[in-house]
Amino acid sequence: MEMRPHPQGFWETTGATKTFTHPLDAELLAAYVPRDVPVLDYGCGYGRLTAELGAVGYGDVRGVDVSRALVERGGREHPGVRLVHWPGVPLPFEDGSFGAALLFAVLTCVPDAAAQREIVGELGRLVRPGGVVYVSDVPLQSDRRNLTRYEEYAARYGTYGVFETPDGGVFRHSTPDHLRGLLETYGFSVEAERSNTVPTMDGHTVERLQLVGRRR
Ligand SMILES: C[S@@+](CC[C@H](N)C(=O)[O-])C[C@H]1O[C@@H](n2cnc3c(N)ncnc32)[C@H](O)[C@@H]1O
Repeated sequence: MEMRPHPQGFWETTGATKTFTHPLDAELLAAYVPRDVPVLDYGCGYGRLTAELGAVGYGDVRGVDVSRALVERGGREHPGVRLVHWPGVPLPFEDGSFGAALLFAVLTCVPDAAAQREIVGELGRLVRPGGVVYVSDVPLQSDRRNLTRYEEYAARYGTYGVFETPDGGVFRHSTPDHLRGLLETYGFSVEAERSNTVPTMDGHTVERLQLVGRRR
């Protein structure tokens, strides 16, 4: 049987050396995430956005990531920013602990549908009613490079849009409806959407989709 790269292993090794590039949208952030609420940056990596939130005036921000290597890197690059290594869900916080949660370029790194549901379900538990989840992710692309890899890996992974990268990562691009459906299923009503083109950690560009969901 063919060996498949273990995605979590990737985030402790090669993935932990990357420069993440998905930008926050300052206008969406300011419109939907009040500066005085506790904010969770889930899948914070090395704390790039956790630190940015602090720099623009958010006073109570925590980052959590499954990768020990990335959180340790965050400790070196952003000393003083609160980053925690936690290997999965549930997270060690009470129900409704946060007024907002960020989920930036994380679902695209979680090819497994059940694992995606667990993550969004956990954010549904942790974000208090009236709070928001602010998601940025990668929908299915239409360029030839991506179409070729979707076709190459669809049978192996059983999901169109899941693919491997040559350096050992496994990623997933999803339909916008899949992303919206995850939010709606776990208690969030989608209030805002934005699409634009952003750089990727591998030096390409992609169309990304930002969704803001309000906890019902
Ligand atoms: C592309 S990085 C984005 C990091 C950060 N959100 C940013 O934008 O700078 C993806 C992150 O998802 C995390 N991740 C990978 N697999 C995961 C999983 N199964 N559950 C939760 N997080 C995961 C990785 O450790 C990594 O930090």
